[in-house]
Amino acid sequence: MIAPELFIKRALRATKVTRMEQVQALWSGYGEIARYQIQGAAPAQVILKAISWSHIPPHPRGWQSTHSHQRKIRSYQVEALWYQHWAQRCPDDARVPRLLAVHEDTDITYLLLEDLDQSGYANRHVQLDVSQALTVLHWLACFHSTFLRTPPHNDDWPQGLWQQGTYWHLATRPDEWQAMAPSPLKESAHGLDQALRACPYQTLVHGDAKVANFCFSDDDQQVAAVDFQYVGGGVGVQDVAYFLGSCLTESQLTTHLDYLLEAYFSELSRCLVASGESPDLAESVANAWQDLFAVAWADFHRFILGWSPQHKKNTPFSQALAQQGLAALGN
Ligand SMILES: Nc1ncnc2c1ncn2[C@@H]1O[C@H](COP(=O)(O)OP(=O)(O)O)[C@@H](O)[C@H]1O
Ligand SMILES: [Mg+2]
Repeated sequence: MIAPELFIKRALRATKVTRMEQVQALWSGYGEIARYQIQGAAPAQVILKAISWSHIPPHPRGWQSTHSHQRKIRSYQVEALWYQHWAQRCPDDARVPRLLAVHEDTDITYLLLEDLDQSGYANRHVQLDVSQALTVLHWLACFHSTFLRTPPHNDDWPQGLWQQGTYWHLATRPDEWQAMAPSPLKESAHGLDQALRACPYQTLVHGDAKVANFCFSDDDQQVAAVDFQYVGGGVGVQDVAYFLGSCLTESQLTTHLDYLLEAYFSELSRCLVASGESPDLAESVANAWQDLFAVAWADFHRFILGWSPQHKKNTPFSQALAQQGLAALGN
């Protein structure tokens, strides 16, 4: 195993590398995100995401099923592939950290990333106001338009990433689905999943677009995203539904949801047309995804209920929107 400082030193041809702080521990302590200071080379600071495979037991204990354990392992490989083969396609309006170097062996994975704090994205938020939420919706619209694909679809897209993005989609949650009490939502879970997958306009979804995974500029007018472990195929409204639920209160959602959705869809159309797509296509995509917003919401709500009916996200607002999703299926 190569030590992190040595890996960074070689990768950047630095004279000295000093660990500054841990930003966050990962996955039961099997890895970490840490900040390092660089001397004798640029940039002056970097972020290292490190996963220590040799310390991870091959078979999970108790609370964690083998299925979810395997998925977690794969999620780090997907993130490494994302940064190596896909991330460079993101334009400035869908900012992500630059990959500086990567190292993968049987013991360890290192992702060496640009430090977004240093690049002007040092703000973090837990809750957002409408204007801050708009900043993120613009990021999402740009991201989804960048990776939009229209039919015909070949089967191995998106190469190296999850064929179905998000960490909550039905195929990854058999235990949670089983645990649900009988209900129309449980019965319709496959229908919801199918409706999202049958949409002719697929794109990459970030897959974990909660507010914690966005880094804001000082004035909150610019944003960059991190954490691409669940990036893969999907429809844009899956990220939108999950994001809005992660950062706004029930009363904000009640008052502003329509306005926020309009803003997302108009930015999506603008980005598609700016990238050379026809206005007709942009309108078809927006129409198709508009119809799927409540479906995507219901799909996430299904995951929440499988996890725990007492979950704080199981709100009356969320239940009502999930009902709309079911109604959209014709159930
Ligand atoms: N390149 C980066 N620059 C600045 N901060 C970062 C960077 N990558 C991650 N972070 C910070 O570390 C946190 C955890 O990183 P993340 O990749 O989301 O790990 P986890 O999978 O544990 O959520 C992020 O929410 C963000 O605040
Ligand atoms: Mg994260």
